[in-house]
Amino acid sequence: MREEIINLLKKENKLSDESISEIKNIEIDDFANIVKELGQEETEHIKKSEILKDLNTEYIGKELYVYKEVSSTNTVAKFLSMNDVKNGTVVISEKQTKAKGRSGKSWESPLGGVWLSIILKPNVEQSKFPMITIATGVAVAKTLEKVGVEEPEIKWPNDIMINGKKVCGILTEAVAKFNTVENVIIGVGIDANLEVTQFPEELQAGTTTLKEELNKEGNENLLIKIFLEEFEKISELFNHAGYEAILKEWRKRSYSIGKIVEVREPFNTYYDGYVVGIDKDGVLIVEKIDGTLKKVISGECIIKN
Ligand code: BTN
Repeated sequence: MREEIINLLKKENKLSDESISEIKNIEIDDFANIVKELGQEETEHIKKSEILKDLNTEYIGKELYVYKEVSSTNTVAKFLSMNDVKNGTVVISEKQTKAKGRSGKSWESPLGGVWLSIILKPNVEQSKFPMITIATGVAVAKTLEKVGVEEPEIKWPNDIMINGKKVCGILTEAVAKFNTVENVIIGVGIDANLEVTQFPEELQAGTTTLKEELNKEGNENLLIKIFLEEFEKISELFNHAGYEAILKEWRKRSYSIGKIVEVREPFNTYYDGYVVGIDKDGVLIVEKIDGTLKKVISGECIIKN
């Protein structure tokens, strides 16, 4: 973690290579303050002032850090979450150099996208955590609807799709202390003002961007503001056990239900099945070829039809 923060500081030209040894001796509190200060500096494309202007939230985004470039907003958010930040703190970066996708994959994050992480301190039991990701998917889909996307869909667990192509991914990570989850980091990547040709060739067929779908450049700051508002609305439902209402919104936009999929669970268990739905905890229910029902808690689901 410390190495990643050092790299972040190097990127911002705040420290020369020679002073890296010095930073290793900085007290962790001072270190956190430096990272916080960097996140208050003016950035060129993503504007803190525009996001905060009329932001209609109680706590999401009220503490906001915006960077020009970081390795991963999830990494910075994890670090900050251990250093005295409020529930709902948001970390944004204009670019990421080592962004993380699900299943250990990397994530393309050039300038023009929306790359952000939210620090949540949930006060619900751990079994409900998959619902946070489900709820985030709904918040992104609602945001896209508000900026003019017709019928965005959610592919379990958390890919947002437009016309069958992925426009957004979500990576939720838990930060635990003494085996208890203290913070959840929700990383959201939206391919906003980008061209599909900016992505590696092997990803292009399955990827889309808001700019291409809406045939125009959009306002990233407005997109972020709307998302933070939608996120707070749905996390309030989450905090007050409104799981059924969240699931209803998810099911309305499901890309997965009714499809034949190949399930790839961790540790290489692969099987085909038919997606029946998601249960009350946000777990996917798949009917295998032999008729048995399987609960898929994590992994990939490759759509086959
Ligand atoms: C996926 O594989 O679909 C999840 C992608 C998540 C990407 C976002 S971008 C902001 C945040 N920081 C990261 O390093 N990853 C997430």
